[in-house]
Amino acid sequence: MKILVCISGASGVNLGLKLYNLIPSEHERFLVLSENAKTVFEKEENIFLDNDIAAAPASGSFGIDITFVVPCSMNTLAKIALGITDNLITRSAQVAIKEKKKLIIAPREMPFSEIYLEHMLKLSRFQNVIIAPPVLAYYNNPKSIEDIEMFMIGKWFDLAGIENNLFKRWK
Ligand SMILES: Cc1cc2nc3c(=O)[nH]c(=O)nc-3n(C[C@H](O)[C@H](O)[C@H](O)COP(=O)(O)O)c2cc1C
Repeated sequence: MKILVCISGASGVNLGLKLYNLIPSEHERFLVLSENAKTVFEKEENIFLDNDIAAAPASGSFGIDITFVVPCSMNTLAKIALGITDNLITRSAQVAIKEKKKLIIAPREMPFSEIYLEHMLKLSRFQNVIIAPPVLAYYNNPKSIEDIEMFMIGKWFDLAGIENNLFKRWK
């Protein structure tokens, strides 16, 4: 499959990068980083990544099968819900929606206002869009942040149909 991972400027940019790195090698993977994600990277990760403005995913003809927006800021969420396409991430999300390809959005904010919830509900009503925020579980007995992250990424992979063994499943 062709898999696109979009990282917007919400807290947890590292999660998106880990998800990208864990995509099994049989898949073709692409990464888009929003301008504001770079700021969050600097604050949270001490690294600076260049924005990838390669426009290929901006066209439906490129044939991306699955698009992740992990993490998704409330700014990017709003733009996706309204059909605004002012950067490669928001354009890629609209491509996924119009092409009826799977779009997995991980909104990161706490708490969610009614505005944010309305955007999520609107998007969730599209059959190909899944709202899957980075929410931890306790049933898998996480012992570290790494365990929590692997649980979340494993769940996102499950939703995308990407086989994985990243977390302890409930028996
Ligand atoms: C360190 C840091 C953490 C942030 N965390 C969040 C967050 O968790 N959720 C969110 O919606 N915005 C968060 N923001 C604000 C967004 O970065 C800001 O709204 C930005 O305009 C998002 O742009 P983008 O959607 O193009 O990436 C954070 C900003 C900084 C600097």
